[in-house]
Amino acid sequence: MTSEIEPIALDERTFVLALTGAGVSAESGVPTFRDSNGLWEQHRFEDVASPEGFRADPALVWRFYSQRRAGAAKVAPNPGHVALAELEARLGERFLLATQNVDGLHRRAGSERLVEMHGQLFTSRCADCDRAPFPDARAYPDGHVPPCDECGGRLRPHIVWFGEMLDPKDLQRINDFLERARGNKLVFLAAGTSGQVYPAAGLVSVARMYGAQSFLVNADPAENTAAFDHFIQGRSGVVLPKLLGSR
Ligand code: OAD
Repeated sequence: MTSEIEPIALDERTFVLALTGAGVSAESGVPTFRDSNGLWEQHRFEDVASPEGFRADPALVWRFYSQRRAGAAKVAPNPGHVALAELEARLGERFLLATQNVDGLHRRAGSERLVEMHGQLFTSRCADCDRAPFPDARAYPDGHVPPCDECGGRLRPHIVWFGEMLDPKDLQRINDFLERARGNKLVFLAAGTSGQVYPAAGLVSVARMYGAQSFLVNADPAENTAAFDHFIQGRSGVVLPKLLGSR
């Protein structure tokens, strides 16, 4: 079926806003959240991915994110990540990638015009002082809650948890991109996301208000499939290189 995929027509004025989710990293070996055996089947997100969970049991939260750091450090970008980085190399400022993934694989594949909407797995910040977020790849031993060198408080992963606001600067960058695209052909391409978490799941509707032609590439139908003009069912590592005309 995937051999019949026609590349999206892109000319020298086409702008592309891409949105990715956990499915894009699945073929690299990073677990998704809502598939069977996904992370939210094994953990209650309230316990490991919310400010309340962190207050109640910060060591449990750090065990969860330390395991994810150790796992993500061992994997590599797949052809889906590479296809998006190659598209950026072709389009330059006419491309923006908004990702819900925190694993850093898009950056490792070469993506630079990147909005990491849900934060970064390999960055920590202090839960108790205003210290700026800083690179931190350490997987901490079980039961350890790393202290802040500056105030002695508790470090936390630099992730947007349930109940927390996205960084308004990130949403502004997406908005600015859509404004810049006005008057040009615009494509919105989502891949590997279940369409259940907002505001990411609403971006297709926002982009369509700007006149975008919209494509969803996903292994299974998503919650918001009906909001897209085109749904291509398949694995992103197979479909994206064909759809984006990668060499
Ligand atoms: P989900 O786990 O909710 O959805 C992943 C989607 O990818 C599913 O619809 C799968 O069918 C699809 N999929 C799996 N493997 C695929 C493949 N190889 N190619 C293409 N599609 C594939 O992940 P997200 O939608 O990213 O937030 O979840 C959104 C947010 O919810 C995450 O960022 C995370 C989570 O709670 C936070 O942790 C803040």
